[in-house]
Amino acid sequence: MEVEDKLIDLVKRCYERVDHNIGYPVCQYPNISGFGEWYAKTGLCDISVNNVGNPFDDEQLILNATLIEREVIETFAPLYDIPEGEEWGFVTNSCTDANMHGIYFGAKKLQNETGMLPIVYISKEAHYSSSRICDVQNLETRMIDYDHLGRMDPESFRKNFVKDRPALIVFAIGSTFMGATDDMVEIGKVLDELKPIGVYKHLDAALFGGYFPFTEYKDLVSMKKQDYDSIAISGHKFFGVDEPSGIFLSRKDILAAQRTMVVPYLKNDMPLISCSRSAIAPLKFYWILKHVGFDTLAKQAKEMLDNTDYMQKKLDEVNYPAWHMPYSNTVFFKRPPEWICRKYGLANGYLTEYGGELSHVVVMQHVKKNIIDEFVSDLMKKD
Ligand SMILES: Cc1ncc(COP(=O)(O)O)c(C=O)c1O
Repeated sequence: MEVEDKLIDLVKRCYERVDHNIGYPVCQYPNISGFGEWYAKTGLCDISVNNVGNPFDDEQLILNATLIEREVIETFAPLYDIPEGEEWGFVTNSCTDANMHGIYFGAKKLQNETGMLPIVYISKEAHYSSSRICDVQNLETRMIDYDHLGRMDPESFRKNFVKDRPALIVFAIGSTFMGATDDMVEIGKVLDELKPIGVYKHLDAALFGGYFPFTEYKDLVSMKKQDYDSIAISGHKFFGVDEPSGIFLSRKDILAAQRTMVVPYLKNDMPLISCSRSAIAPLKFYWILKHVGFDTLAKQAKEMLDNTDYMQKKLDEVNYPAWHMPYSNTVFFKRPPEWICRKYGLANGYLTEYGGELSHVVVMQHVKKNIIDEFVSDLMKKD
């Protein structure tokens, strides 16, 4: 097959599946329509641009889009109630990359303050990437049990707590399978009692961190209300960037607590683990902010949550065992036959307390009522 035919074939296969791909948290019709045309028309696609380093540094390599990146961070920060003037962050390669930096900055800050590396506490329901990141950074972890709603269990947290070591807690704000949101207030009460010698709170809010700010649940990701230090959010999930990307949001004091590492050939202190970063992803975020805007994102968030309730209602009506957790757009249910799992690209899980073998649907922007109806009708068919 010719190269071009192979590529066309790939596009055809993707289009055949796109509407039924409902098992993963991806905005299947990205919010950047028009960007590709603009990118080609301006000729930006014909030169290489690179956002090396900290976008809040004024001295940069010549060909970059860091001013736009900085504006993106400054525009997103108020959504998360990050105190004005104190906001700091950058556009990441993914949410995993943003988690990598949250855990790294937290561990280094605590080490600088206490002379000891922290213990990292993560719920067993959290995304696997946080544990992997701790492996890479050689950090000691304690995996905490979760309760019936998939939230980090305060009693298990208390039991696993290591005295005399600082604590770095990764809160799952939308766990991957159950769609659970850790209760930061309840865990905070245990912390108040146990009084660790240092605390850093990082939020893994890959999916829910995208839509919470546009809903009545916005306080759950408010830095002022929840008193956290950093948050990681995917760009390709709710926000609708068309490729893996993310945002890391934090404060200037967290940056200031890091070890300085001046790299003469890059003219600057290099606080990030990554050197080169995409200059195009920040432009896509910028495009979304300017051409889609918060009002449309709020409408998308509402429709997703309404459709989640619709899906739950439809499954209840036919007595199909299904659940979704508070604030969540993820519905999990008894695992259907294999052909249904394949047709809809379902993600599988196993939870004894919910009957064993399960699958889930993540009700993203493209999961409309007609697809939900088709899915429920397929569930009712004999194998
Ligand atoms: C809760 C959670 N955290 C982190 C990630 C990883 O995000 P990314 O794919 O952007 O690296 C995911 C991915 O689904 C997730 O659900």
